[in-house]
Amino acid sequence: MLNKKEIERLRDFYKLHEGESCWIIGNGPSINQTNLLTLKGSVTFAVNAFITHKNFERLLPTYYVATNPRLMRSDFLKDDLIPRLQKNDITCFLNCEAKPIIGHPYESLYYIETTESPLIVDAGYNLDITKRLHGTRVSVVIQAVIPIAVYMGFKQIFLVGCDNDYKDLSMEKAHFYGTAEHCPNLLKLNNTARELYPSYFIKKETTAIQNSLDGNEEFSIVYREVKKLGVKIYNCTKGGKLEVFPRLRFEDVVKKTTLNRIILHSSPLRKIDKCCAEQLLPAYHSIVISNIDKNFDYGEMPVYEQEILCKLIKNQNPKTIFEIGTFQGATTTHLAANSDAIVYTLDLPPKGHIDYHPPDMNDPELDVYPDQPGIKHFSSAYADRITQLYGDTRSFDYSSYYGQMDIVFVDGCHHYDFVLRDSLNAFKMIKPDGMIIWHDYADYAPGVMKALNVISERYSLTHIEGTSLVVYSGKWGEIDNKSEINTSISAYSETELFNMVQKMIDEKNFALARTTVSKSLEMFPASVNLLYAKAKINIETGHIDEAQITLLKIIEISPENLNALNGLASIEINKGNIEAAIEFLRDILILEPNNQAALALISDIKTKLLSLSHAKKENLY
Ligand SMILES: C[S@@+](CC[C@H](N)C(=O)[O-])C[C@H]1O[C@@H](n2cnc3c(N)ncnc32)[C@H](O)[C@@H]1O
Repeated sequence: MLNKKEIERLRDFYKLHEGESCWIIGNGPSINQTNLLTLKGSVTFAVNAFITHKNFERLLPTYYVATNPRLMRSDFLKDDLIPRLQKNDITCFLNCEAKPIIGHPYESLYYIETTESPLIVDAGYNLDITKRLHGTRVSVVIQAVIPIAVYMGFKQIFLVGCDNDYKDLSMEKAHFYGTAEHCPNLLKLNNTARELYPSYFIKKETTAIQNSLDGNEEFSIVYREVKKLGVKIYNCTKGGKLEVFPRLRFEDVVKKTTLNRIILHSSPLRKIDKCCAEQLLPAYHSIVISNIDKNFDYGEMPVYEQEILCKLIKNQNPKTIFEIGTFQGATTTHLAANSDAIVYTLDLPPKGHIDYHPPDMNDPELDVYPDQPGIKHFSSAYADRITQLYGDTRSFDYSSYYGQMDIVFVDGCHHYDFVLRDSLNAFKMIKPDGMIIWHDYADYAPGVMKALNVISERYSLTHIEGTSLVVYSGKWGEIDNKSEINTSISAYSETELFNMVQKMIDEKNFALARTTVSKSLEMFPASVNLLYAKAKINIETGHIDEAQITLLKIIEISPENLNALNGLASIEINKGNIEAAIEFLRDILILEPNNQAALALISDIKTKLLSLSHAKKENLY
């Protein structure tokens, strides 16, 4: 039986992979002819004895499901399978029959309950993984994997190695783990597991049960139920007797899904609503932050983001902060410097630590790994408020921090799976009105982007424009409330907004300036100052035609606006429309004969005309 906590943990998987595709790898003989390594990078589920496959370590499936009751009782499970899954930190769903023997050795091991009933009856096929599932027999572990994949939100499921063919005992049809029944002539397979654990790998009655089954009938019920949820299942197994699902050629699907993956990774879409820092923090400009170290190293957060982060922290006045991913501890120090909070920060154990494992430096998305995490905060003035924790974010036991944190800052590994898991832990750690801040929501970190896009479907997240920071606040509640943040701009006068935008322009923070000015113009559409600021931003960012339209709008509202007239004259000069420029300049000089900007433009024109010899100097007067 599953206890309440185990059921709760399973709920974390609900819609975790909404709309994605996955592969379910059966252990049928056909996978001997299938190049499973082409699935690297896709989400894969492996089952029961797959760890004995020669490519297990190279493929490292994303998920593992083990339900076979004989396996649950075998030494193979506790001596070999679970330790190897644990070593590679593979998320495993294990038949809860094994609970008394296995216990809870690592965080990513989850129990599921499976039924002993031999056949799926028409009464129904359960797809809710928090309840009892089918799939205890060797032949139908796949029937326990399918509901897990459906629960996770996968919309396309590809089966491979699901032969559903237990009667063919020929040599060619040998399983990779080499059961005696399936290959009676086979004396030795290069597989020690079979020799070490004969009670699991060689057992006659299994074949007897399997031989009596067809399986297509049961799978038809599975397919019918799954189809109701709009999930598609395709069988990419080479040969075999499973004829319920449409068949596709393994190689064709791999080619297509790889392409999709590349496209997805090369241009992940930003789906999270944007908002400028000033909108998020109405008092933005008046918040004074402390002690920012401006010498930042590769792998650390850039200074302009540190400033925004520190202002957010200062504004929140947190008493507890948890940082996932310390690196050298620059941000940790800033978090402490800008609050009086107790700060916890987690990173991998340092070199020399008993749990130290050298990271896989060939993986570009794994980001930076310091030899000594936290080196900067150890020597800071805030060291007594900072606790450095060591561990892998995937297996770290966060339970004593649950519901305790005012702020969690997620800045660990960039891999999609890591970010999802780190984020779920962050949600568990914050107080109901706490805040989560993520770093690296940017094109260079597609895993972060994808994970936050998924999370944003469930939680109201805000991307701070012009940065890679994303924020969630328990105080915002549902999406409706968040729109209040966007309208918080209404707290300012026209002049204050103009000054704010002007400052952003001076600081060359054009992205922020653009959003703020357009939000401000929604409130003050005829504000000549704001329109002029908008035109300036467009000129500075090379959007000249848009700038011209805005300046003409100003002239419509205020025909004597000298700044706008000068702007228009300048644009025309740059476009080579000298006559049009002269028209604007004439208007200016009539209004203000000594207008210095206009006179400067006139001398520009003179120089141009001289050098091009297009007109005589006198024509200008
Ligand atoms: C981008 S850096 C953190 C930067 C830091 N927050 C700052 O602003 O200076 C990411 C950190 O995550 C750590 N990390 C990556 N994978 C991890 C894992 N599985 N468990 C713990 N830490 C991990 C790396 O060692 C690295 O120090």
